[in-house]
Amino acid sequence: MCGIISYCGKREAIPILMDGLKKLEYRGYDSAGFAVVENGNNVVVKTVGKVSNLEAKRAGLQINSSFGIAHTRWATHGKPSEVNSHPHTDCHNKISVVHNGIIENYLEIKEELIKKNHTFKSETDTEIIAHLIEDNFSGDLEVAVLKSVKRLVGTFGLAILHADIDHQIIIVKRGSPIIIGIGEDEYFAASDSNAISAYTNRMIYLSDDEMAVLNSNSYYIKDMRNQILDKQIEILEEEIFKEDKKGYEHYMLKEIYEQPESIENAFRGRLIEGEGVSKLGGLEPVIDRLKNIKKFIIVSCGTSYYAGLLGRYIFETLTELNVETELASEFRYRRLHLDENVAVLALSQSGETADTLAAIKEAKRKGALLLGIVNMVGSAIAQITDAGVYNHAGPEIGVASTKIYTSQLVILTLIALLIGRYQSVSFIEGSEIINAIRKLPSQVSEILKNTEQIEEIALKYSKYRDFLYIGRLFNYPTALEGALKLKEISYIHAEGYAAGEMKHGPISLIDQNFPTVAIAPNDLTLDKMISNIQEIKARDGKIISVTNADAHRIIEMSDDAFTVPRTIDILQPILNIIPLQLFAYYIARNRGCDIDKPRNLAKSVTVE
Ligand code: M6R
Repeated sequence: MCGIISYCGKREAIPILMDGLKKLEYRGYDSAGFAVVENGNNVVVKTVGKVSNLEAKRAGLQINSSFGIAHTRWATHGKPSEVNSHPHTDCHNKISVVHNGIIENYLEIKEELIKKNHTFKSETDTEIIAHLIEDNFSGDLEVAVLKSVKRLVGTFGLAILHADIDHQIIIVKRGSPIIIGIGEDEYFAASDSNAISAYTNRMIYLSDDEMAVLNSNSYYIKDMRNQILDKQIEILEEEIFKEDKKGYEHYMLKEIYEQPESIENAFRGRLIEGEGVSKLGGLEPVIDRLKNIKKFIIVSCGTSYYAGLLGRYIFETLTELNVETELASEFRYRRLHLDENVAVLALSQSGETADTLAAIKEAKRKGALLLGIVNMVGSAIAQITDAGVYNHAGPEIGVASTKIYTSQLVILTLIALLIGRYQSVSFIEGSEIINAIRKLPSQVSEILKNTEQIEEIALKYSKYRDFLYIGRLFNYPTALEGALKLKEISYIHAEGYAAGEMKHGPISLIDQNFPTVAIAPNDLTLDKMISNIQEIKARDGKIISVTNADAHRIIEMSDDAFTVPRTIDILQPILNIIPLQLFAYYIARNRGCDIDKPRNLAKSVTVE
């Protein structure tokens, strides 16, 4: 939520800031702005809406500067308006601040500062930071910033400049991600490496309560006690940066089509055929502890939570572990018994979701083993966990998560197989799972070759206002995830339900205007799904099914059916979700929705 970028060097700052903002826009697109210093003046330009609006505004301005800070906003305090947009400034327009996070004690500080005659322009929590620094400033920005951040309660990634101090930008981190990019006599800072990797691959990952001071030809990093730190520069090796839509109309579509590759990347080099087991280098340091774990808790949010729900079923099938899946936002408040015999596994694409981070911090306090399945290398969750597995799926830019969901499911299966093989899973069973995993990329490609039918069916259903999604066992999470995809990008009301629960309430919704998407593969739940579909048909409900070509009865009973190849039951949801991702995509496109940037959402949710 909210993206920050800063530049300090010799080049024109604004093109670099704008380029970075475009790459950070997935983090929020309610408003955007920048501040640069030109001839000792703090020049602030901001607009409501997307970065393209800011681009249009700055195109008409002639500003030259080689250091500045910029921001793209997902609104928390104060509605999206120009005055609430970042950067925020002090009373004399000398200090500019951009902020990602939330200041919890801002009202208390604001009242104090008002009493000292500070004048506030916005409704935001961030503006108090600019005024607090002004209040503490007596010629040394570093000292003023250090003193000010000690007063702040909450989370923040900050970039700060002062018009009177040439080529100095101060970056501070607590809770929200900030990465420093080291160039040749130029320095960058951004909420993620993607925003600055076109200029350098040398990165420093700031930890909480660290501050970076960037000048035009030097930098240093300090802690809050004002001690200089010797932080390691990490070289980004992955070619994850030159990301564009590669000819697809939207990132979401591109990412759906990338799934054969992202699934393959999830298991590449991680299967040992000869032993019917998986090999996960990231878990090796904790493997002995893992063998003795008594309880396994998966924590995550949104789509990652639905992957975790399915992970629970997969773990129950392959291991003897007691497994629970928890919404991260609930987990941290519960009175759970956690100790060194419990493993808590965080699932997160971004690796920075605030609820998930807070949950694992709570688990760490109680001594649990912390594991992660994370896509963003070096992210906060990757740093805090004891061990973990990367998705290696490449960046996911579309706000609606697609390729990470299927990648997470593959990795959860690999972890369950690894543990299960120490328990009762046999070599033969392990080998069957490995064979099935290997076939997934080609099976997904097969589905992606025949999307015209999905597009046609989506057109037929684009005008409906409500949908029910149902599935049983492994496909109950598929129903939840299918419904989430539809609602988040098309703004159509969609409910995911365990098919068996339908008769306990939601069936009263069914009529000819309330279609049901039934995920009904040819597995052990087939007969029960047939009964549920009959119950819906008896009430004039329309059925769109996701099934297998040999499930003739389902196909006959359905108004429309998407057929997908058959695999083993635990992996079938990976294939079943593909047509549902596309169904949601085409409906949203037919309705003219902003698919990659749905309203009110942001890709990384860094507030609790
Ligand atoms: O980065 P994370 O996986 O931790 O994100 C969790 C959710 O915010 C995310 O999956 C969200 O639900 C997606 N927009 C769903 O498509």
